[in-house]
Amino acid sequence: MKWMMTSEEAAAEELAQRVCVWAAARRRGSASGALLLPTGSTPLPLYGALRQLAAQGSLATEAWPSFNLDEYWPCAASDPISFRSFMDRELFAPCGIADEQIAFLDGTCPEAELADHCAAYEDSMRAAGGIELAVVGVGVNGHLAFNEPGTPWDSRTRRVALAQTTRARPGFPGGTEHGPSEALTVGIGTILDAREIVLLAFGEAKAEAVRQLREGKASEEWPVTALQTHPKVTVFTDCC
Ligand code: GLP
Repeated sequence: MKWMMTSEEAAAEELAQRVCVWAAARRRGSASGALLLPTGSTPLPLYGALRQLAAQGSLATEAWPSFNLDEYWPCAASDPISFRSFMDRELFAPCGIADEQIAFLDGTCPEAELADHCAAYEDSMRAAGGIELAVVGVGVNGHLAFNEPGTPWDSRTRRVALAQTTRARPGFPGGTEHGPSEALTVGIGTILDAREIVLLAFGEAKAEAVRQLREGKASEEWPVTALQTHPKVTVFTDCC
């Protein structure tokens, strides 16, 4: 595991450059696969840096198959709290990323069709050539995407219940009483299938999760420690 002790801004610049190089290679046909992207406050500087590159004409935006980690359920894409609308605002629309490039878990999928929908999401990742780079944030309780503590590491894309600690976070839409209590998420196994994983973790609130990753025993109680088992992980952090 590679540790990059750095600021949020410096991490965003470096990672945006990497995405830019990969996207250009993807356009030339000399790179393969897709991106797996996060939501939350952590990736905002990254998306800002990518928007800037796109505005300068330096980002090969048409070359990306793009997947996202998770989505609230039930939740329409048009709902301003949805992760899809977050991505539309922060990255897809301003960078001109076309609908055909974007794969997203569907928060309006009927309950009876969820298993098929989640399996199809995994199939389309494979069809896109696999995930070349997964960018992930981390929850204060160590969750990855919406894989809460206790999630098996071979878990795949599925419907999950959100932990109370996740719903109690400042900024959680609607709060613990009215906010979403369930979501669709890729599994830890899905994330570990990526050829490379970048973790972004900044600020005091993430320090314990980062410490568990760095010094803790690999344990399902801290989903982030699953990254200890992956051969190619870079952690950008200002914690510890
Ligand atoms: C949500 C997302 C995670 C994200 C986490 C941290 O739970 N499902 O993918 O890592 O929030 O969010 P933030 O970056 O706002 O701290």
